[in-house]
Amino acid sequence: MKKINEILGTEFPIIQGGMANIATGSFAAACSNAGALGLIGVGGMTPKMLREEIRICKSKTDKPFGVNIMLLHPDADEFADIVVEEGVKVVTTGAGNPAKYMEKWKAAGITVIPVVAAPILAKALEKSGADMIIAEGCESGGHVGEMTTMTLVPQTVDAVSVPVIAAGGIADTRQVKAAFALGASGIQVGTCLLASDECPIHENYKKAVIKAKGTDAIVTGRIGGTPVRVLKNKMTREYIKQEKAGADLMELEKFTLGSLRRAVFEGDTETGSLMAGQTCGQVKEIRPVREIFKELMSV
Ligand SMILES: Cc1cc2nc3c(=O)[nH]c(=O)nc-3n(C[C@H](O)[C@H](O)[C@H](O)COP(=O)(O)O)c2cc1C
Repeated sequence: MKKINEILGTEFPIIQGGMANIATGSFAAACSNAGALGLIGVGGMTPKMLREEIRICKSKTDKPFGVNIMLLHPDADEFADIVVEEGVKVVTTGAGNPAKYMEKWKAAGITVIPVVAAPILAKALEKSGADMIIAEGCESGGHVGEMTTMTLVPQTVDAVSVPVIAAGGIADTRQVKAAFALGASGIQVGTCLLASDECPIHENYKKAVIKAKGTDAIVTGRIGGTPVRVLKNKMTREYIKQEKAGADLMELEKFTLGSLRRAVFEGDTETGSLMAGQTCGQVKEIRPVREIFKELMSV
């Protein structure tokens, strides 16, 4: 199976994961210029913002880049049209099946790469026309499923015939080699890029990622909410307390609502949601993204 850089036209077989409120046009362009496939994440954006961020990205790179669309977003239909109108070449999707957009996207020559947390969903998405699949294990930062990358990647590789990209728990060359050994054709990373010069998050957030041990990246919402991996802090302690006490989804949402933005823009490490994966325990310094990508691919 070809590596994804040969298909996507990038230097490295690496995708910079779409990250809500973080993956701007400038950040995606920086990652594309550094040899990976940069992604703009629609999380936290309006349709107008997405169009602007795509144009910013185009003005800063002539390399391939893409857009990550969360299908549960209320503006998903509009985002789906904007990527076509703006000539975006790669779309990754989360939280569902993009089947209803497939015909339009394929006609526009878009490579469609859904993110899955279970092999059975990968099979269904391949049938719907997915060109590749991102298999994201629960070591990752942000929303998580049940399976680990170690179990999810080979089972997804066995379930589909399109290339599979491993995500979750990858932050150095040992894990890249492991992903390829499991049958992956490429990797997607998020957490290790939080501590980069180019990442547009508050310095406090970067420092918290560097300080954190792997065990500090816990999952909230496993009982009564939506499972999300974040760094332990005052917000997660309160969330878990309420969750154990049987709070319903709407009450729990009060803790998380807007709290990623508080972490990203205000550097609030106490009540903000510091989404990060278990590889935080390996992230020791702030580096340029080019250096991070080169190290990932060093043999
Ligand atoms: C802060 C943060 C925000 C994220 N937001 C999104 C998102 O909006 N959409 C999405 O598909 N994935 C999101 N992810 C997941 C990443 O795209 C990527 O798959 C994941 O970070 C890879 O695992 P790693 O964190 O172990 O590197 C997010 C991850 C992080 C760390």
